Amino acid sequence: MAVRKFSEKKLTAEVLHRIRNTRNPRLKQVMASFIRHVHDFVRDVKPTQEEWFKGIQFLTETGHWSTGKRQEFILMSDTLGVSMLVDALNYQAGAGTTDSTVLGPFHREKAPRYPLGASIAKKASDGVPCSVSGTVKDARGRPIAGAQLDVWQAGADGFYDSQKGNAMNLRGIFRADAKGRFHFRCVKPEYYPVPHDGPVGRMLTATGRHPMRPPHLHFWITARGYKPLITHLFVKGGKYLDSDAVFGVKPELIIDFKRGKGGVAEANYDFVLMREKGKK
Ligand code: BEZ
Ligand code: FE
Repeated sequence: MAVRKFSEKKLTAEVLHRIRNTRNPRLKQVMASFIRHVHDFVRDVKPTQEEWFKGIQFLTETGHWSTGKRQEFILMSDTLGVSMLVDALNYQAGAGTTDSTVLGPFHREKAPRYPLGASIAKKASDGVPCSVSGTVKDARGRPIAGAQLDVWQAGADGFYDSQKGNAMNLRGIFRADAKGRFHFRCVKPEYYPVPHDGPVGRMLTATGRHPMRPPHLHFWITARGYKPLITHLFVKGGKYLDSDAVFGVKPELIIDFKRGKGGVAEANYDFVLMREKGKK
């Protein structure tokens, strides 16, 4: 049997040839593109054996840091701007509809359900009291009755509940009323760092970056017949708006958190959802 010797270029062609029988056409397309790009990356960077192995060790460590509560690969995707790229390709806000942004790793299933007006903050030490209100509408300005708003945030100490234990705090699910209106209480969002004690944190330091996110409140808004909207509201004037570690800031999502009565912060926003494909 004749064994061929592959040149640098021919090797890529041979690997692509080997996957020619992949049944699933989408998998074939994804794998072919991945192989081409990884080979091009290696030709471009020309790593030494030591460098190549360092890269393997970095990915291995990233896997070891990933658990049910900590997803270091998603953090890598977030901090390299890949998550926002995927978001941009999948959620294109139409005229007048609200922009989406990154989900992040701190959403939890089955947050407590609260009546409108309730507070998601359980302790006074969670932060400066804040009141958030607004409506959920469609692109024609019609209220979306009963839209569900899943809300979560970090406390003034910069941590989400899941980073401190199992108890749920600073998160909750609300239902808009018959006119699409909602209001709830929380704490004024503060800036905080993404988890940076692992390999992704080392990557940020080594590339001269900080791990901070500007102050924000997370929303996941759903209603039958509409595309789910995963987004944030950012605090106008907040630190790090122009250098978010995960590239999630969009100008339309930056709003005033005014100082109201008794020092309570107040914010108001009208969310506009997109119809699901094929619905009017
Ligand atoms: C967050 O906003 O909670 C977050 C988003 C991406 C990476 C880490 C944290
Ligand atoms: Fe967050």
